[in-house]
Amino acid sequence: MCKYHREPDPQLKLGTGINWFGVSEKQQLTKFSAPKGVPDYYPPQSPLFLHVRDTFSHQAHLAGYEHIELPIFEDTGLFARGVGESTDVVSKEMYTFADRGDRSVTLRPEGTAGVMRSVIEHNLDRGQLPVKLTYHGPFFRYERPQAGRYRQLQQVGVEAIGVDDPLLDAEVIALADRCYRAVGLTQYRLEISSLGDHTCRPEYRQALQAFLFALPLDDETKRRAEVNPLRVLDDKRPEVKEMTADAPLMLDYLSHEARDHFETVTGLLDDLGVNYVINPRLVRGLDYYTKTCFEFVHDGLGAQSGIGGGGRYDGLMAQLGGQALSGIGFGLGVDRTLLALEAEQVNPIDTSRVHVYGVAMGDAARSHVAALIDQCRAHGIAADMSYGGRGLKGAMKGADRAGARFALVVGESELEAGQVMVKNLATGEQVATPRNDVVASLQQQLSRPSQ
Ligand code: HAM
Repeated sequence: MCKYHREPDPQLKLGTGINWFGVSEKQQLTKFSAPKGVPDYYPPQSPLFLHVRDTFSHQAHLAGYEHIELPIFEDTGLFARGVGESTDVVSKEMYTFADRGDRSVTLRPEGTAGVMRSVIEHNLDRGQLPVKLTYHGPFFRYERPQAGRYRQLQQVGVEAIGVDDPLLDAEVIALADRCYRAVGLTQYRLEISSLGDHTCRPEYRQALQAFLFALPLDDETKRRAEVNPLRVLDDKRPEVKEMTADAPLMLDYLSHEARDHFETVTGLLDDLGVNYVINPRLVRGLDYYTKTCFEFVHDGLGAQSGIGGGGRYDGLMAQLGGQALSGIGFGLGVDRTLLALEAEQVNPIDTSRVHVYGVAMGDAARSHVAALIDQCRAHGIAADMSYGGRGLKGAMKGADRAGARFALVVGESELEAGQVMVKNLATGEQVATPRNDVVASLQQQLSRPSQ
């Protein structure tokens, strides 16, 4: 058991320098940092985080995907069976632990397996097909942290389950593409390939293994070639890349059905005006993929260039004990999409915290300003005010820092006249406005673009 999981000890008394959990006051004063490889998103960047996440969720809702909220941890076996024991994700990167009931649980490293578990458990696949679901949240992989590679990563995902139709592949890919464009990215590319199906994969696997076993590979790489030869094509070491440059390619081994499917998907993407490049060496890090697989890649990010990826997983549901239904999905990496926006120097959102800022001059005005600010909020206007009795100069600085467009200034003379001084902070223009007209006037002015 973790050494911090202690029951409070009633013998320990306040004032002894030791608290109920046996932690000394000195220890309590230690400052903490976030765990290694785990980013915080705080203002002023956090609104952009929400913008990326919510833009994709919104696009998914527009395409008929419904939200699903899933557990952060699941039975370890779900990922071992669903994602694949030969993957780095399962064999090296999972946060797995025994809970107090001695069950092995794992912090979810990805979302697709959990969605399938829930669909099977709750019979969501017994109604109208496809089942279209979207989710977002944190995922956990014990990777070596570096720029764009985190141990807690954030994704927004979609899954369309139950219909093997290339139209769905194209829809999911076009949805992802539209989302990247909607947040303002332009310098990314979509790479696409096919990983074949259960009829052609075994033959390709044999051909690839025969090729790899003839190479002077180190023992660890040979072992990988035995378990999952495709992984070797994903090896980033230059010497391995060079040796495998002429390796057989899956695209040359596709069955008629898998080839038809792939050609239909690329044809549909052409019709939808989605640009792509075919990358016959595309390898995904999870084992469940069949047929279509794809990745969105951004060159401004260095080694961790994948800003999102997905594909079809036709055997996954049966493998997890459900019906033999197909599926296709995509996961957008929110962290890397934010880094890509930074690399392209685009900030697609208004970073102001509020639009209106209340400034009370003197004690008598404070409750009047508070009521005005409350009224603004009730009418959907983002508003805040100066607290703690700051002077006019300090309060105006606060308005500026909040990115407000208007300050509402109330002093003694305004109180007497039943007015509010509405100051446009961009132009400096001030208009004494009857108190009851303030909200309507702000609504009108805020509906016009800022100058
Ligand atoms: P994935 O390619 O493993 O796919 O992850 C999707 C995206 O999450 C990546 O393209 C990347 O942007 C981001 N990501 C992954 N690992 C990290 C990390 N350590 N740090 C920062 N970002 C990371 C999946 O997870 C599949 N479940 C996607 C899917 C849904 N396939 C079908 N349906």
